[in-house]
Amino acid sequence: MFKTSTSLLEVSNLSANIGRQVVLSDISLDVQQGECVAIIGGSGAGKSCLLRCIMGLHKPAKPTCGQMIFADQVVDLTADRSLRSSQLGFAFVPQNPQAGLDPLKRLAFQWKQAVRCAGRQDMGEEEQSKLLTSLGLPEFGTRYPHEWSQGMQQRLLIAFALVARPKLLVLDEPTSALDPLIAAQTIMRVMAHAKEHDIATLIVTHDLALAARFANRLAILNTGRIVEFGSTTTLMEAPASDYGRLLVSNRHWSCHTRSPEGL
Ligand SMILES: Nc1ncnc2c1ncn2[C@@H]1O[C@H](COP(=O)(O)OP(=O)(O)OP(=O)(O)O)[C@@H](O)[C@H]1O
Ligand SMILES: [Mg+2]
Repeated sequence: MFKTSTSLLEVSNLSANIGRQVVLSDISLDVQQGECVAIIGGSGAGKSCLLRCIMGLHKPAKPTCGQMIFADQVVDLTADRSLRSSQLGFAFVPQNPQAGLDPLKRLAFQWKQAVRCAGRQDMGEEEQSKLLTSLGLPEFGTRYPHEWSQGMQQRLLIAFALVARPKLLVLDEPTSALDPLIAAQTIMRVMAHAKEHDIATLIVTHDLALAARFANRLAILNTGRIVEFGSTTTLMEAPASDYGRLLVSNRHWSCHTRSPEGL
């Protein structure tokens, strides 16, 4: 089914449960072509469940209601997907990147597999090396995953996701396992690549500084509900909700907060 929408992705009225627990309630959000939207919120707020439901992954949370329009295709979020996400035009990098690489297989082999799985056998050597270089990745040689740093492994997983030339890249806390410097380098390279290729990004992060720097809009999630969704500048400068104010007020806590003992 097709429907014309001005947004690349439009999610409407998504609710989802794990068993009897309601983990997402009436979520609506949209992402415009080429835009970066960040979802922020505390641990357990439902951020990963939200991304997984959008990706059609019904574990652990099962949607009870909701639909999305992606690139004018209407998708019932409660139904099993007939089309794979890559066929729809989006790609997902999950929260736990270690699960994405096989420690016993050489990187070159895993890369070839990713290219084949994405149906990109047409991808020439030059295009492959351009993608890897744009993410700051060297030649694989005969190396195994453990011979690369965590930052490199994370960028490789993002490269796997980009092989399929998605219109939307969905990232669940892409830098949480990385030290701050590597995290900044990783995200800058990914965002530069996305901008160059007009790829929209939907990114879950705990890092407000990262969200403030890259996202056009922010969605603040608290206990399974979006409490605010709007321009990053407005939300950072004048959050309207109590929870938004709390999040933003703690943004610089490490710079300004001193314990009474001065420790
Ligand atoms: N496998 C699971 N089994 C049961 N409950 C789960 C499972 N995964 C998540 N939950 C519950 O679903 C809710 C939302 O979890 P979710 O993982 O989406 O949170 P999150 O916002 O991504 O948190 P974090 O920032 O820690 O990654 C939480 O109450 C969590 O306890
Ligand atoms: Mg999560």
